[in-house]
Amino acid sequence: MELKIALLPGDGIGPEVMAQAVKCLQAVEETFGHNFIFSEAPVGAIAIAKTGNPLPDETLQLCRDSNAVLFGTVGSPEYDKDPYAKLRPEQGLLQLRKKLGLFANIKPIKAFSILDRKSPLKKEIITGTDFIIYRELTGGIYFGEKQLSTDGTTASDLCVYSESEIGRIAHLAFKSAKSRNNKLTLVDKANVLETSRLWRRVVSKIAESYPEVALEFMYVDNAGMQIILNPTQFDVVLTENLLGDIISDVAGVICGSIGLLSSASVGENHAMFEPVHGSYSQAAGKNMANPVACILSAALLLEHFGLNEEARAVQMAVYQSLRKNIVTPDLNLKTKYGTDQVGDFIANNITDTDDNLSMNNENIGLGKSTII
Ligand code: IPM
Ligand code: MG
Repeated sequence: MELKIALLPGDGIGPEVMAQAVKCLQAVEETFGHNFIFSEAPVGAIAIAKTGNPLPDETLQLCRDSNAVLFGTVGSPEYDKDPYAKLRPEQGLLQLRKKLGLFANIKPIKAFSILDRKSPLKKEIITGTDFIIYRELTGGIYFGEKQLSTDGTTASDLCVYSESEIGRIAHLAFKSAKSRNNKLTLVDKANVLETSRLWRRVVSKIAESYPEVALEFMYVDNAGMQIILNPTQFDVVLTENLLGDIISDVAGVICGSIGLLSSASVGENHAMFEPVHGSYSQAAGKNMANPVACILSAALLLEHFGLNEEARAVQMAVYQSLRKNIVTPDLNLKTKYGTDQVGDFIANNITDTDDNLSMNNENIGLGKSTII
């Protein structure tokens, strides 16, 4: 298969983790005989520095002309420290989501059994966790009208949702639940927010077309607690933009390191794949960032194009690295391996398909488009 892949490494640790994901995609090309055409473009703080725009027109055009986008991270302490900054690196990511119409962000949350002691949560609590978060990505408070009074003392952010915005992601989430364990949890704040009550009405109506799926509602404050107390109760979690942002990081705790979590953002015409972690600027250039989230995001990219065997080879190689403790310091403080070495090990294991085939895959519940 020939695929044009836009690479947007962005800021902080983005470039170094992406370099490892590209190594892995190249190993897939070589092993399975595909042709991936990579083109790189700036986004975020680095793009502001180069062009004065967090999402330069050329970057957007490249993404539009590509079959898929692999995204690193955006963000920089100089902007984080400045609440007055008009231009922010994050605007590059938000505009990209909006302009490419990437309305659904999909995050598999699955506990790696070989890492169950890395999680701050008890092994008995996390064992068997396997759910997917469907987060709405192009609406809500992130994109509503923003106002700041002229004297700078009052501000507002508007949260708006329409029936069609809710419906299109709800259908994706119901279909996913149907292919999994037939349970969908809508997370909201319907005891307070009008938009949440609209979500409940629209989702309840859509549920009638998926009679095999059990729909339940959960307030976000309780959901935050339930994800930590009893994560195995979830199958598919559906939620709006801001609440989804928050519970995604909460759920990240289960896996032991946010450096392991991958995500896909999809729309009607485009798809983008990105690690869940942020730019982690303190670690940038130190060869210590965990490349696994970015590598697993590349695996989601492969799955998106139906390259399931290829995605599986990447996932198995990642699993192998975890099993052999070839990991970055977030997973083992005494490790002698850095970003580069972990990336090399994983890429080499993809090429070495015999090893993959002979591997015992007991713990890596693959298929159903979830990984880890
Ligand atoms: C994420 C990030 C972004 C978000 C930031 C960088 C704008 O936290 O992808 O979860 O809030 O959506
Ligand atoms: Mg976030």
